[in-house]
Amino acid sequence: MSETAHFEVSRRAVLAGGAASVGISAIPSVAEGAAPMAQQPPSMAVTFKVNGKPQALMLDTRTTLLDALRDHIGLMGTKKGCDHGQCGACTVLVGGTRINSCLSLAVMHEGDEVTTIEGLGTPDGLHPMQAAFVKHDGFQCGYCTPGQICSAVAVLDEIRAGVPSHVQADVGSAPEITALEMRERMSGNICRCGAYSNIAEAMAEVAGVRIAETHGAEVEA
Ligand code: FES
Ligand code: FES
Repeated sequence: MSETAHFEVSRRAVLAGGAASVGISAIPSVAEGAAPMAQQPPSMAVTFKVNGKPQALMLDTRTTLLDALRDHIGLMGTKKGCDHGQCGACTVLVGGTRINSCLSLAVMHEGDEVTTIEGLGTPDGLHPMQAAFVKHDGFQCGYCTPGQICSAVAVLDEIRAGVPSHVQADVGSAPEITALEMRERMSGNICRCGAYSNIAEAMAEVAGVRIAETHGAEVEA
């Protein structure tokens, strides 16, 4: 074997040996390498009322209120749009306050009173806001409608309770039920069909106000 050939063989042997040692060192020893057993995700019991009916669930702690309502209780009225808090399709009322149920974990609602669109009215006895949406054609495809109606109900309560908004000139004064206030407060509810004007008219009717041409709303005599 020539000097050159001997060098090549030796070089290959060294490289192969090195690779093998790398491979071996990459294999965890039996003692340290026993793969951890797949763990069950943590679960927690939660009890709350939904539309007046007690519910007791054992849930993966990561379950959102939206998924608990739809997948565990079977109330499909609350819709999943973005699942990121951006569209408002999942709006429900918790203790009368509207929230995006996709942004809230179910286990955070121990003891709470949750109201979904199914709890506002029935086909034979619509909630006034539901009836107004029908009367004013406040929906087209209807996907956003449950969230819009839950929001609309809460918006009028917010204004009446004096909760300030971004469009008030003086946040220290009591807000009024104007078109501007209603539109501002409904801005977290997105409607792809663009039924906004009709939604505003439906809300105005329930609030007992008349929407003015430009902005604001006039209280009916
Ligand atoms: S699904 Fe919750 S905000 Fe869009
Ligand atoms: S009615 Fe279609 S998304 Fe609002």
